[in-house]
Amino acid sequence: MNTTDTPTIRIAPSILSADFSRLGEEVRAIEAAGADMVHFDVMDNHYVPNLTIGPLVCEAIRPHVTIPIDVHLMVEPVDALIPLFAKAGANIITFHPEASRHIDRTLSLIREHGCRAGLVFNPATPLDLLDYVMDKCDMILLMSVNPGFGGQKFIPSTLTKLKAARARIDAHRAAGGQEIWLEVDGGVKTDNIAEIQRAGADTFVAGSAVFSAPDDDKGYRTIMQQLRAQCRSL
Ligand code: DX5
Ligand code: ZN
Repeated sequence: MNTTDTPTIRIAPSILSADFSRLGEEVRAIEAAGADMVHFDVMDNHYVPNLTIGPLVCEAIRPHVTIPIDVHLMVEPVDALIPLFAKAGANIITFHPEASRHIDRTLSLIREHGCRAGLVFNPATPLDLLDYVMDKCDMILLMSVNPGFGGQKFIPSTLTKLKAARARIDAHRAAGGQEIWLEVDGGVKTDNIAEIQRAGADTFVAGSAVFSAPDDDKGYRTIMQQLRAQCRSL
């Protein structure tokens, strides 16, 4: 890579760590502070042992931001929620392959509803599920923690897996395939984002790192600038 290039970096604060009593204000603050997307964690107390937010909340925050809403579905089953989230203003919808009986169909369904589609890989889930569906993925999301909770510690083996995912994406692109974003989710902080980027990620979810900063657009801007600055210093 030309060292003068600024690499593509997308920061996606996870509102799981936001103040839910002031959610509209919180998402406006992260957009004003330079967030590229809102990461929206949906948990169902079935696929994961926690219960969070659904399409009604997505619809409620939609008018507060212009940046994309990146819906991470940790639910089982998946398909029935796709039209509801598309209608509620989601732009990206990702799901865990273990939670869908028909992965190819679910990916297509997401695109048919006008959203970017993506698969999410848990720490122990191998990437070979991608073998026959790369052309249907706009996003590959690697979990760097086990899904269910914010504030967990980054699992280091994700770095090796990111390199493998990056190699798959680069080969796909070289063969004329569509653009695919590589997102990492869990335990991303200022002290590890550089090596995560070096391993191949271009899109970074950061929940507790962003929302533990002073809760105004100035505090959020500072932490997001610090995250970006680490990446630029490669
Ligand atoms: C975990 C969620 C993550 C989480 C990230 O299941 O998918 O998006 O909120 O939070 P941090 O950045 O605190 O690990
Ligand atoms: Zn997430």
